[in-house]
Amino acid sequence: MKRVFINGYGSIGNRIAQFIKDDPQIKIVGVGKFSADDKVEDAVSRGFDVYVPQKKIDSFKNYKIKGSIEEALSNCDLVIDCSPGGTGYTNKKQLYEPKGVMAIYQGGESVFGEERVSDLLFNSRVNYKEAFGKKHVMQGSCNVTGMGRILQPLREKFSTRLIRFDAILVRRWADIEQTEKTVPDTIEWSPNPHHQDDVKSYMGQDTPLFIQAIKVPTRQMHVHMMSIRFKDSAPNPSEILDLYRDEYGVATLWTAKGTKQIRDAAESMKFSFKDTNMIHIHANMIEKIDDTIKMVYSDDQTGIVIPENHKLMQAMLFQKPYDEALAHTETLFHMQEKKKSLEEFFAKK
Ligand SMILES: NC(=O)c1ccc[n+]([C@@H]2O[C@H](COP(=O)([O-])OP(=O)(O)OC[C@H]3O[C@@H](n4cnc5c(N)ncnc54)[C@H](OP(=O)(O)O)[C@@H]3O)[C@@H](O)[C@H]2O)c1
Repeated sequence: MKRVFINGYGSIGNRIAQFIKDDPQIKIVGVGKFSADDKVEDAVSRGFDVYVPQKKIDSFKNYKIKGSIEEALSNCDLVIDCSPGGTGYTNKKQLYEPKGVMAIYQGGESVFGEERVSDLLFNSRVNYKEAFGKKHVMQGSCNVTGMGRILQPLREKFSTRLIRFDAILVRRWADIEQTEKTVPDTIEWSPNPHHQDDVKSYMGQDTPLFIQAIKVPTRQMHVHMMSIRFKDSAPNPSEILDLYRDEYGVATLWTAKGTKQIRDAAESMKFSFKDTNMIHIHANMIEKIDDTIKMVYSDDQTGIVIPENHKLMQAMLFQKPYDEALAHTETLFHMQEKKKSLEEFFAKK
């Protein structure tokens, strides 16, 4: 059994811990906390040992902690870093590399420049096997992960018929549980969004992908509006939808009107954390115009990367064949069942 430590217990770390604790091939050593607050008690009540930075131990004297993060790292095979964006690099240099421990980083880090955490940005649908033998790998962010699920099937089916992908990312401001973050009444734009380089890092530098990103005041989900240009006449929308029928982590919804309605459906179906863990193609928004397909899909920002982390962990720790890793991930996440329930709930009337 492999020993895994989860460093950071926020939106992502807390979800990863709660899903992976049910994996019989993994022992969770514990979770790392940085602030002495009631999330420590939450973690303990869920059965996790809590570790804190050695230099902060005194500030946790009123909480039940197990030890220091430095000790936990000496006692694990792999750490899943779930710290705020950019902090993963510091943790790599100050903790993980000196301890010689394998590490997974999240999408707020980078695979470019002096502060890159890895030379590999993982997307299980595209480059699963490239994580074999790597000690440090970055999991793509939610938008970057979702986009791979759309682009890779298109590339496999249409290859040189594809001329160009133009996408507008409509990003959520904060997560539902990030109540400390306010959602201001404004729309912000991001020059040079990281998503374009991130997606190209695993799809290939020559991918004709052009992304613009805006951030809007919602907590529910991201939405991508994508135009796909073909060399000749574009395929019919039904042909595009057929492409995703059996794609893992992609649901096709006909009658959803907005992202909150999907979250509410996930809640009513008792999905863990109200997450769907997938992207949702909005079939009533797909259009063919001459050589172009226009499509819209939503991306469950908090949920989508959790099963991906689980697959990446299996690639790094066990070098399992892709199908075996996917089947094992499915035993914890029940994505096929969730996809079926969502598709039935939002079926064509
Ligand atoms: N939220 C999303 O939807 C989403 C989706 C995909 C990817 N990501 C990426 O996932 C990463 C984590 O995001 P998040 O949304 O989970 O953030 P978050 O909710 O703000 O949680 C961050 C956690 O990191 C802890 N922390 C603070 N300093 C740390 C350090 N030096 N080392 C380790 N942990 C530290 C914090 O601990 P305390 O609470 O104890 O202070 C907190 O539990 C980021 O790279 C982000 O870009 C986020």
